[in-house]
Amino acid sequence: MRKKRVDFIALAGEVCNSDSSSPAYMEEVWHKAKELQMNTLLLPVSWELVEPEEGIFDFSIPDALLEQARAQEMKIVFLWFGSWKNAQCYYAPGWVKRDTVRFPRAQVKKGENKIYLENLHGMPYTSLSCFGEATKKADARAFAEFMRHLKIRDEEEKTVIMVQVENETGVQGAAREHSDLADEIFAGNVPEEFADYMRDCTGEMAEDVRRCVEAGKKGHTWSETFGDVAEEIFSAYHIASFVNTVAAAGKEVYDIPMSVNCWLDKKEKAGMYPNGGPVARMMEVWKYAAPAIDVFCPDIYVPDFCGVCDEYGKMGNPLFVPETATHSHAGPRLVYAVGHYHAWGYSPFAFEHMGQPFNASQSFLFGVDVNDPLLSVPQNVEEYAWYNRTLSSMMPLLTERYDTDRLQAVISERPEENVMHFDDFGFQADLNPVTVRRKDSVCLVLQESGDTFYILMNACMLIPFSRCPEKKNVDILLLEEGEFTNEGWIAGRRLNGDEAARLISEEPVLWRIKLLMYE
Ligand code: DGJ
Repeated sequence: MRKKRVDFIALAGEVCNSDSSSPAYMEEVWHKAKELQMNTLLLPVSWELVEPEEGIFDFSIPDALLEQARAQEMKIVFLWFGSWKNAQCYYAPGWVKRDTVRFPRAQVKKGENKIYLENLHGMPYTSLSCFGEATKKADARAFAEFMRHLKIRDEEEKTVIMVQVENETGVQGAAREHSDLADEIFAGNVPEEFADYMRDCTGEMAEDVRRCVEAGKKGHTWSETFGDVAEEIFSAYHIASFVNTVAAAGKEVYDIPMSVNCWLDKKEKAGMYPNGGPVARMMEVWKYAAPAIDVFCPDIYVPDFCGVCDEYGKMGNPLFVPETATHSHAGPRLVYAVGHYHAWGYSPFAFEHMGQPFNASQSFLFGVDVNDPLLSVPQNVEEYAWYNRTLSSMMPLLTERYDTDRLQAVISERPEENVMHFDDFGFQADLNPVTVRRKDSVCLVLQESGDTFYILMNACMLIPFSRCPEKKNVDILLLEEGEFTNEGWIAGRRLNGDEAARLISEEPVLWRIKLLMYE
């Protein structure tokens, strides 16, 4: 499925949770983002701060953030921390938290509003119930007020390019809620239209989900219809419906792209990760129940970055990575996300600490693995800034080639996928050249015309070849370094000597190359 065209790539960073609650604190953070050559920041806006008392709204913080972004000529993705933040209700206003009758908590254990489970890493758990009608209404009202305000303040300037609705939704501690109401709904029949849709939508479904859907009975309860995945589908359906009500209320007053982000399923037992959240295996459910959501986004801290990006490309979903680790895969993954996945956005979390040694909680979060030294080494900030600056300077060329094979990339994390084909020519990349010490190899190739290419690469060796059997030899007619400015490509040194003999580099480079093929 062809994705919507974009003319902007969010070369972004997400701030730590608390920074954007203080515009004064943010001053420094904007500077750091500028140093890193970012063009967008992902900034939390919390329900508790915009509606401290029911019906009394205060948008002074998002207003100040808008002004700061404009002064820096940057864009914003606001993150609506409403009923959910990391599957809990940390950012709900006090008046919501206090009234557990009007705004019921999710009972993952019958009768319990809060649990302390060992298998949640000792973390106490409480969340608002997705079956709370008053909660949904109040959250949707606050979000709509926020969007109404945003429309007034930003419709012309369009500083805000997207809004994320809630944060890492789902239910933990059990696969679904167990209040009397939740049990009653679970024991009832699955809405028929939804059951039919699931049966018609198995093309890209995760294997185990598909098997259950195909084996299920029509017109029956959740368990009978969806078997082993019934509780997860049940949670996803109801949480997505809640989120959709909130998103749709906002869209009705100001229609800009909306996203959800996801705490990934690391193949753990249901309820360890937030069950019912927008994991890729539940995308079919979310697409049905939350049509107001435009982009489903993975928060990627697991080592298999590319595997997750692959999963999130299903059903025509564009890639936007709102959170990822700041270890030294961060830079190459940024280039690969743009060059291979044609991503709409890429955003390391807690970018303001990029380059600093990891503390214990970051090491835990990033899954520091001794077998992969890149996981425990912080990203070099100068190089990250270089990647951002270079990609920014190429923005129109990149986005014009999105969704075509005129923009491709390879990365050392996928050494077996090292060949790129462009019409008559191809490039084979050595992603682990023996003469290069570093291992964070990446290479992006953008086809300018039939025989001319821009190469953005690091720690990699490239061999051009002909794809034309009658003209199997290839020469390099021109190799030059350079940069893009407002006037276009400005060439630097001509590199037709030693550099052209072996296209190899141990530092990030941007080259232009013109090839010739002959018999
Ligand atoms: C994912 C969440 O979405 C972020 O807000 C943050 O809590 C990180 N995890 C962990 O630091």
